[in-house]
Amino acid sequence: MNSTIETNSKNSTDMFKVEHKDSYAAWLQYKNIDNSALSNEYKHLWGSLNVLGNSLILETAKKELLSAISSMLGIEPAFAEPTQANLVLATKDSLGDLVDVDFDQLNDDGYVIKTVTSREEKQIFLVGKRDSGVLYAVFHLLRLMQSRNNLQQLDILENPKNQLRMLNQWDNMDGSIERGYAGNSIFYKDNQFSDELNRIEDYARLLSSVGINGIAINNVNVHKVETNLITSILLPKVAEVAAIFRAYGITTFLSVNYASTITIGNLSTADPLDPEVRQWWKEKAEEIYSYIPDFGGFLVKADSEHRPGPFTYGRNHADGANMLAEALQPFNGIVLWRCFVYNCLQDWRDRSTDRARAAYDHFKPLDGQFHSNVILQIKNGPMDFQVREGVSPLFGAMEKTNQMLEFQVTQEYTGQQRHLCYLVPQWKEVLDFDTYAKGEGSEVKRVVDGSLFQYKYSGITAVSNIGNDYNWTGHTLAQANLYGFGRLTWNPDLAAEDITDEWIGQTFGSDELVKETVSKMLLKSWSIYEKYTSPLGVGWMVNPHHHYGPNVDGYEYDVWGTYHFADWKGIGVDRTVKTGTGYTSQYFKENTDRFESIETCPDELLLFFHHVPYTHKLKSGVTVIQHIYNTHFEGVEEAEGLVESWLQLKDKIDQERFEDSLNRLQEQAKHSKEWRDIINTYFYRKSGIKDELNRKIY
Ligand code: GCU
Repeated sequence: MNSTIETNSKNSTDMFKVEHKDSYAAWLQYKNIDNSALSNEYKHLWGSLNVLGNSLILETAKKELLSAISSMLGIEPAFAEPTQANLVLATKDSLGDLVDVDFDQLNDDGYVIKTVTSREEKQIFLVGKRDSGVLYAVFHLLRLMQSRNNLQQLDILENPKNQLRMLNQWDNMDGSIERGYAGNSIFYKDNQFSDELNRIEDYARLLSSVGINGIAINNVNVHKVETNLITSILLPKVAEVAAIFRAYGITTFLSVNYASTITIGNLSTADPLDPEVRQWWKEKAEEIYSYIPDFGGFLVKADSEHRPGPFTYGRNHADGANMLAEALQPFNGIVLWRCFVYNCLQDWRDRSTDRARAAYDHFKPLDGQFHSNVILQIKNGPMDFQVREGVSPLFGAMEKTNQMLEFQVTQEYTGQQRHLCYLVPQWKEVLDFDTYAKGEGSEVKRVVDGSLFQYKYSGITAVSNIGNDYNWTGHTLAQANLYGFGRLTWNPDLAAEDITDEWIGQTFGSDELVKETVSKMLLKSWSIYEKYTSPLGVGWMVNPHHHYGPNVDGYEYDVWGTYHFADWKGIGVDRTVKTGTGYTSQYFKENTDRFESIETCPDELLLFFHHVPYTHKLKSGVTVIQHIYNTHFEGVEEAEGLVESWLQLKDKIDQERFEDSLNRLQEQAKHSKEWRDIINTYFYRKSGIKDELNRKIY
């Protein structure tokens, strides 16, 4: 019986590759180039190859290059001497004086791609400072080929802006995924590691192709079974997975249970200042590194949503994080300590407390107390991945503490991969947000790339959106979120439009109508979703716990009060210093002033910062209540428009991906009506104010 299950499960990845070829390949399609002129041109350029140097990652680079060339051109480049080969892959150490490269301009993962025409044959050099750079250069070149670019004369220099470019899997060992919307885990099944290591390898390929270099492979909520990931029972398996990622330049991290000393260590305490606890973690780190010498470190959710943490022992977060940091220090490991810390049992009728304040209130006073191998991992907003919320005021507020940004690629509050909601434009807004920490020009992207305060470690991470569905992400178009996240972490200055075009070209080919249509659909999808869900930054009008579908008074943990404070007169959360929770004071002055004043607070965040009467006039000239009605009607029309747009592409996209996306877009259009009706009816009943246009509200 077991063996049948195993055989079946072993086969599913292979099966997907054949039966669901296009869906599974995502943006690494490598379709045969049927334009013969271009194909001949490329064949001429890729006739021969030499890889200088030996390493696992160089092997991967070669493998990726050869298989893509074979699939796009049907040729296998011959081996040739370095001075003759059309394509030369090399690192700083192996290049010698074959070509002039200014390595001072490259950071650790940087690379150049350079055409040299002076010799008999044209040569293209793909040179990285290290082997990881060579792999990224290969993926870059393949991206250009997939987009059918002219490759005659290349002179490219690329450096990732962020040092750490990570993903967090919220996968549980029972195979479920917390907030997963694309099937079950590719890592685990029935409390064991999955046998389908080739699926994990294919995931590594996707990630590496967009520059991801770190992954935490289990949920931040670490249950008893996952606590064992750091024991000799499971470490050999973790090491196998780490080896797969290593070949793609990706470092493996684990989420750990802060109270491991109690759960698996036979100690009665997890007090970070207790010598036995400290010793236990030191020995644990040593053991982990004996299995995985390049292990990245620990991701920790402590003292939040019923997770254990240092508070139990009257200690603070610096005490907790530093204890782990000390254990990892000898091995160059790091601690990713999450700032998503708040009292989930808060009574919302008590307006003197405010969940949005929590991260800053907990962490800001600790600036300077964290070890240099601790990074604080901060969600983009102070609440929880809403369709829109303010940017966390903690960014830039801790000059002496490494910081890293956490996004959510999985669409927990943004349609759960049943609705189309392309998040790149939202992420761009966050990255471009000016904190004013060191005056104008102190954008979040400069805080988290480490340049503003010269952090030792920093970067961007996100909760992944993949599962074992044959197309990885449930909604085929949600693949664009994973792609876009990777590209933005590599370079936050890339334009949303360019990332989108890149993704479409590689995923669906170069047809102009496809490009234009899909690009428009993606780029306006966040705004559409926002329109028919929660208005003006108020957020949270979702069903509690599973967070899908409308429920205006839906709130969590069965605590008292609602998140939006709507009554018959008005709506919104007063977070001002003058009359509210004082949250606005957590920003630097320019932003405090902007958000504090109702005149300068941007409309789209009005209800996040202010409580206003329904009759309050927005800058657009319409009242808040009329805005709610209007946008909900518009949102539905636009969601219906997405279906219409997609239908135009019927013969231009393979049937499976066309039908899959069509079904989801139709579901979205239908569901958007439910949102519209529930929200509009609620506010009509609450306010008693009619729609000026007399549309049917209930
Ligand atoms: C949200 C989410 C949880 C998750 C938590 C976190 O609250 O709903 O599922 O565990 O964020 O980020 O830790």
